[in-house]
Amino acid sequence: MTFDAIAREATVVLCAGTGGVGKTTIAAALGVRAAAEGRRVAVITVDPARRLADAVGIPLSNRPQPIDGPWPGELSAMMLDAKATFDDLVVREAGSDEQARHILDNRLYQNLSGVLSGTQEFMANEKLFELHQSGEFDLIVVDTPPTRNALDFLEAPEKLVGFLDGKLMRLLFPRTIRRAVNAGLRLMLRQVSSVVGARIVEDGEAFLRAFQGMEDGFRQRAKQVTGLLSDSGTTVLLVTTPRRESIAETRWFAEQVLARGMRIGGLVVNRSHPSFSDRPVTELSELSAQHSEGPLGAAFAALVDAQTTVEAERTAVAELSALVAGAPVVEVPLLPHDVRDMEGVETIARHLR
Ligand SMILES: Nc1ncnc2c1ncn2[C@@H]1O[C@H](COP(=O)(O)OP(=O)(O)O)[C@@H](O)[C@H]1O
Ligand SMILES: [Mg+2]
Repeated sequence: MTFDAIAREATVVLCAGTGGVGKTTIAAALGVRAAAEGRRVAVITVDPARRLADAVGIPLSNRPQPIDGPWPGELSAMMLDAKATFDDLVVREAGSDEQARHILDNRLYQNLSGVLSGTQEFMANEKLFELHQSGEFDLIVVDTPPTRNALDFLEAPEKLVGFLDGKLMRLLFPRTIRRAVNAGLRLMLRQVSSVVGARIVEDGEAFLRAFQGMEDGFRQRAKQVTGLLSDSGTTVLLVTTPRRESIAETRWFAEQVLARGMRIGGLVVNRSHPSFSDRPVTELSELSAQHSEGPLGAAFAALVDAQTTVEAERTAVAELSALVAGAPVVEVPLLPHDVRDMEGVETIARHLR
C-alpha cells in the first residue's frame, strides 16, 4: 500500500505516536490529501492546544465543521468535546428521555463523566464510531489523544467493557453500598449514609437505578467499536520524528500494534532534516580537514555537522522501516516555521505520497 492508496481507500486512519511529533498536523494533512482525492473526510482532533483549530481558522465544535478549500471532496474537522460526547452517548442509550435526564442531572454522574471523559480515549473511540455509523464520511482520520501510552486509545473499548463488568464499579461503589442498593435495604443504606454521608449514597443509588438496563447497550457498543478498530478498512498511521527517543517509543508501539493483529498502514517520519550532499560523512570530514585553513573551512564543518545528523536519522528510520516491513514510509521535512495555517497543512500534505 502507498499513501495514495491510504488516501483513496482507507475508511478509518488512526494517527498514533508520542506527544509533539506532529500527529495533529499529519492527521489534518492526510485529511487534505484524501479530500483532494474527492472523498468526504472528517478529521477528529483531540488537540488540547487547539493547534489544528487555529491552523484551519474555524471554531471547532463537537460536530464536524466543513472547511473550505481547493479540493473536489469535502473536508470537515472537529475537536473532541469528551463530556458532550459522553452525554450524547447516555441520551442515545437511555430507554427514555426521562432516564437520560435522571442520569445527566445526577451529581455522581457529573463527577464520574468528568473522570471518564478525562480519559479522552473512550470518547474519541465513541465519536469515531458515531461518525462512522452516520455514513456521512468516506474516511475518518483520528488524531489520537496525547497520552503517555499511545496504546490507551486502542484499549479503551475493552477497558469500558471491563469497567461495566465490575472492576472499576466495585472500586467506585463499595460492596456495602451496592448490596444495599440492589436489595433496596433502606435501613442498611441509612447506616452506610451515616458513615460516608447521605448525599453520596443517595447519588450512588440514584445513579445505579438510572443506569439500570443500559449496561448491555454500552457493552454491545464497546464491542462494536472494538470491531471497527480491527476492521480491514482501519489502519494505523505511525507518526514519529527521526530522533532516537521518538524512534525507540515508536518501535515499541509498532510491536504492540502488530501483536494486536492490527495493520500498520504507513510510517510518517516528520521533521526530517534535509540532506545537502550525496557524499558520506567520512568523505566530507576529509574534505573539511583539507580545507580547514581555507575560506571554505567553516562551510565544510557545517556540512559535516548537518550530514552527521542526516546519517543518524537515516539509520534510525531504516530500523523502523524494517519493523513495519511492507508499509510505506514517507519523510516529511522540518519546515522552517510552525504549521500555522491551512497553507502549512497543504504543504505537509504534498509530502504524503
Ligand atoms: N514538519 C514540520 N515542520 C515544522 N513544524 C512542524 C512540523 N510538523 C509539526 N510541526 C509543528 O510542531 C508542533 C507539534 O505538532 P503537532 O501536530 O501539534 O504534534 P502532536 O499532535 O503530535 O502533539 C506544532 O507547533 C506544529 O505546527
Ligand atoms: Mg496533537
